[in-house]
Amino acid sequence: MPVIELRGVCRRYDAGPPALDDVTLTVEPGEAVAVLGPSGSGKSTLLNLVAGLDRPDAGTVTVAGVRLDGLGEAASARYRRAHVGMVFQFFNLLDDLTVTDNVVLPALLAGTSRTEAHRRCAALLESLGLARHAAAYPGRLSGGQRQRVAVARALMNRPTLLLADEPTGALDSASGEDVSRLLTELNAEGQTLILVTHDEILAARCATRTVRIVDGRVHSDEPSAAARPSAGAVR
Ligand SMILES: Nc1ncnc2c1ncn2[C@@H]1O[C@H](COP(=O)(O)OP(=O)(O)OP(=O)(O)O)[C@@H](O)[C@H]1O
Ligand SMILES: [Mg+2]
Repeated sequence: MPVIELRGVCRRYDAGPPALDDVTLTVEPGEAVAVLGPSGSGKSTLLNLVAGLDRPDAGTVTVAGVRLDGLGEAASARYRRAHVGMVFQFFNLLDDLTVTDNVVLPALLAGTSRTEAHRRCAALLESLGLARHAAAYPGRLSGGQRQRVAVARALMNRPTLLLADEPTGALDSASGEDVSRLLTELNAEGQTLILVTHDEILAARCATRTVRIVDGRVHSDEPSAAARPSAGAVR
């Protein structure tokens, strides 16, 4: 069963052309899908629909068996807590909280016990190479480190989907490679990943499939370089 199923999805904001125009797309568990396209083509709109942050004007959005179109606010929030981890270009960490407090927050909101949340947080920080920054404030970390904290936070509730919108857009190339390696490893461990980016190299490195959006429509949908057999040794 696909984990994401969009059928005939349209989203129109104002009088202008629709941001998404009749998009039909399915994603299987374990895929790493890069969504590429020009600025304004509808990539973030697509991601927001899958995240349950927005509703289509027409069509259906089903994720992990849940019909998201037509869900109310509370049910959307429950869906997100249970199924979605999100990573953004500008981290969106809370600067007044330590790294640990940022990372445990989604678990505490989901009702996980403090002990269990801190146990999982410590394990995540360890595996992401952040253990020694557990008590630091985000403002003291490099961009790449902050983004890894954001990934740890996104993984806290063991999401069905990891959604990333330009996760390397604000990083220098070395930190960007760091984050792209992390995403590749997570996908190799089975994490389903949707990655919105302008960066062809990032897409080629991390994704098993590349979907190109132009003017709100799916322009092409193909396996990407990382999925080809020659790239197997790297993964
Ligand atoms: N909240 C909003 N209100 C009105 N129009 C919006 C809103 N969000 C997006 N749009 C419009 O919808 C279209 C698609 O926007 P979207 O943010 O999905 O593009 P994008 O592909 O993510 O672009 P970028 O690469 O610049 O992030 C654009 O024309 C944009 O102006
Ligand atoms: Mg965008």
